Amino acid sequence: MKNFTSFADVDDYRVLLNKALEIKADPFGYQHIGKNKTVGLIFFNPSLRTRLSSIKAAYNLGAQAWVLNAGADSWTLEMADGAVMNGGTQEHIKEAIAVMSQYCDVLGVRTFPTLKDRDEDYQEVVFKKIMQYATVPVISLESATLHPLQSFADLITVAETKQKERVKVVLTWAPHVRALPQCVPNSFCDWFSEIDWIDFVITHPEGYELDPKFTKGARIEYDQRKALEGADFVQAKNWSSYKDYGQVISNDPNWMLTPEHLTGSNDAKFLHCLPVRRNVEVSDAILDSPNSLIIQEAGNRVFSMQTVLHELLSL
Ligand code: CP
Repeated sequence: MKNFTSFADVDDYRVLLNKALEIKADPFGYQHIGKNKTVGLIFFNPSLRTRLSSIKAAYNLGAQAWVLNAGADSWTLEMADGAVMNGGTQEHIKEAIAVMSQYCDVLGVRTFPTLKDRDEDYQEVVFKKIMQYATVPVISLESATLHPLQSFADLITVAETKQKERVKVVLTWAPHVRALPQCVPNSFCDWFSEIDWIDFVITHPEGYELDPKFTKGARIEYDQRKALEGADFVQAKNWSSYKDYGQVISNDPNWMLTPEHLTGSNDAKFLHCLPVRRNVEVSDAILDSPNSLIIQEAGNRVFSMQTVLHELLSL
């Protein structure tokens, strides 16, 4: 693995997953890997989990970490090639990333989608530029279209919790008050459709179909209750439309997950990447139930990042 930006960067998910479980069992067992190493973390938008779990992961490996809030802590960055910089931007991304590469051994980057220009977002214009100018391995802390560290943490959570060999995992769309990116569900599909011991089903209202490049032929069931029948795990998440790009085309509150929705499930365990809008996306009764894995899942963000750092700092 040279960079970590999607499932495709992972040589063998089984090896990576086993390494994560091993690291979780002994979090300080690889402190020599990070000795005299620095992890750089750049955020172009807010974060609680990704920021803190990445710092903790670096410390667990014996490495140092720095964080830059791009734009707020630094000069305002220019992204456009060939720009005449006589306006508000003060430093070009070209120098900024090359310079930051001098100050770290691996660079984690969180970018953002416009939710206006689908081609620009899905071509990962900003993230690709950063990879072009970086001279150290790059980790996606969430890009315009994907959030692989989250999906890897979700996979760790399912693997360590499941009670039987094969499990049914359902990704369900949930209502929200804002138009959100497709990064988390895209990534969830990118990873979970590839796992040989998972029967993966996606459910959402018509019009919320995700990019087929990420759903990879997974079963899509428009009837939420039917989709949830026999489910062992359910991940709820809102996303805006991919087809009518960035639009909220419907916001049916009946899609909010409640215990009643899970009556046909196999006592399903509940996942959500967080942050969650309580009683909009998911009811309190689900979030606070013994079947809710949301805190364990967020805790596993340390181990997904630590495992990826272990690989990239060992290069
Ligand atoms: N799930 C997640 O990435 O959370 P943050 O946006 O708080 O990092």
